[in-house]
Amino acid sequence: MNYLAPSVLSADFATLGTDISIVAAAGAEMIHLDVMDGSFVPNISFGAPIISSVRKITNALFDVHLMIDDPIRYLDDFYKAGADLITVHYEACKDVEETLSKIDSYGILSGLAISPDTPVSVLEPYLKKVNMILVMSVYPGFGGQTFIENSLEKIRAVRAMADQQGLADLWIEVDGGIGAENISSVKEAGANVFVAGSAVFKGNVKELIDR
Ligand code: DX5
Ligand code: ZN
Repeated sequence: MNYLAPSVLSADFATLGTDISIVAAAGAEMIHLDVMDGSFVPNISFGAPIISSVRKITNALFDVHLMIDDPIRYLDDFYKAGADLITVHYEACKDVEETLSKIDSYGILSGLAISPDTPVSVLEPYLKKVNMILVMSVYPGFGGQTFIENSLEKIRAVRAMADQQGLADLWIEVDGGIGAENISSVKEAGANVFVAGSAVFKGNVKELIDR
């Protein structure tokens, strides 16, 4: 199953609820929510209270991407805010396994992300413990950046590793610089969850969903 996950980082926060309703009505089954702490990444976005407020707008799957240091400290808050899927960064966790188990304990989906400079090999011990791997195709922190080409190679490598471990159902998400021009190639490389911020909110959501 393929999913387009519009990232609300590129929405207008003054009309966030309306923007989310529009993309949900256009067919997006997943909403990507980028949480940034100004420490793990050089930008600050929003936290659990905003997610809790927009939770009332839609039943779409809330895909919460935590770009925060030591994320285990805040998992309770994001679970209570209505996250259906929480993704943490490999680079940000003091104990990856403990963090993933805590997400699991809520009965929601878990994801593990790697930034562009992190090799896919670090993921190997965790593939069986997560529902999704997130391959960042830009340096996390900002929307509107250019897709880093070697991410295709990384996606292929994660898919191959998953196949080797018999994990055909593992989701692979790609995030950063995705648009109509490259969504087919990331899909072909093995990704099935496509995050798009600027391409959706400054472009045509229907066109991306149709691809
Ligand atoms: C970047 C965020 C992305 C971002 C993607 O750190 O994780 O989700 O919103 O934006 P675009 O699609 O504009 O690259
Ligand atoms: Zn993201």
